[in-house]
Amino acid sequence: MAVEQELGRDAASSVSTITEIAEYLREGGGKRIRPSLLLLASHLLGYTGAGAIRLGAVVEMLHTATLVHDDIIDGADTRRGRPSPNTTWGNEKCVLAGDWLYMQGFKVALEEKNLRVLDLLIGLTQQMVEGELLQIQKLGKAVSEAEYYDLIFRKTACLFSVSMRLGAVLAGASEAEEANLAAYGRAVGLAFQIVDDVLDMTATEQVLGKPVASDLREGKATLAVIHSLDHGTVRDRQSIQRVLDDRSFEHVSRGEIQEILARNGSVAYAMALADRYAEQSRLALAHFPDSDFKRALLWVPDFVVAREK
Ligand code: IPE
Ligand code: IPE
Ligand code: MG
Ligand code: MG
Repeated sequence: MAVEQELGRDAASSVSTITEIAEYLREGGGKRIRPSLLLLASHLLGYTGAGAIRLGAVVEMLHTATLVHDDIIDGADTRRGRPSPNTTWGNEKCVLAGDWLYMQGFKVALEEKNLRVLDLLIGLTQQMVEGELLQIQKLGKAVSEAEYYDLIFRKTACLFSVSMRLGAVLAGASEAEEANLAAYGRAVGLAFQIVDDVLDMTATEQVLGKPVASDLREGKATLAVIHSLDHGTVRDRQSIQRVLDDRSFEHVSRGEIQEILARNGSVAYAMALADRYAEQSRLALAHFPDSDFKRALLWVPDFVVAREK
């Protein structure tokens, strides 16, 4: 797709290390879900210009930049089914490559010559950085569901929402249309991260292409875990807190945690909430007339909830 060509052009720097890292990430693929949303939002409202391709590449670059930084912060060693960039080039170079990718995204966005676009992207980047920082502050703690939602909105759903909004802005949408598309993106994004967090506990690394069972080991309590902390026995709580404290499954195994989550219906609970957000996202599209683009957007939440990677 045209976004891939734009990404290819944008991955080039005069410093070879940056080009290598940017190229490596681009080649690794990824689902490209954010640019797809942006394109669908703009086409839904009849936009046909080249701006959507450019901004599609921009949201993918910002996403990639957050992944580079996230893998450094999480100490992750695989991404998109390959060694993560930090294992190949080291943290120092990868911090800088991530910064470069952010700025490359903004540079391409500047070509739109639209202050609203820049305003959205700046607000977004700050939210995402704040999200990752808040997450670090809460490591090892039994966070509340409300805190969890605030966190996943910032680190994930905000980008989904802004991708939809950017499509709307390009198409000259009304305020109501933009708000509905943003609400759709937010709900899809929340469902997406809830499922990402479930997959971290239930999937295999081979399928997922990135480390599994890593959230608890990193001290992150995600929705299913929060549910067991709130509804499990005293022993359940102690076992989970032990893993959060130890940052390892040395004293309490991954199998024991899975047993606790299953017994308390916690994975089912998290998936039910993902379904609820999927439903909420579809409702946000109710006022748009039927079209292929609308049908595609209606399908995305199903894909997000049913995905295996
Ligand atoms: C991973 O996003 C980061 C999260 C927000 C969970 P994706 O699952 O969309 O990553 P790629 O782009 O497909 O690799
Ligand atoms: C998503 O959180 C973080 C970003 C928005 C980059 P995770 O830490 O769960 O993402 P993965 O699982 O490493 O892709
Ligand atoms: Mg991570
Ligand atoms: Mg994850």
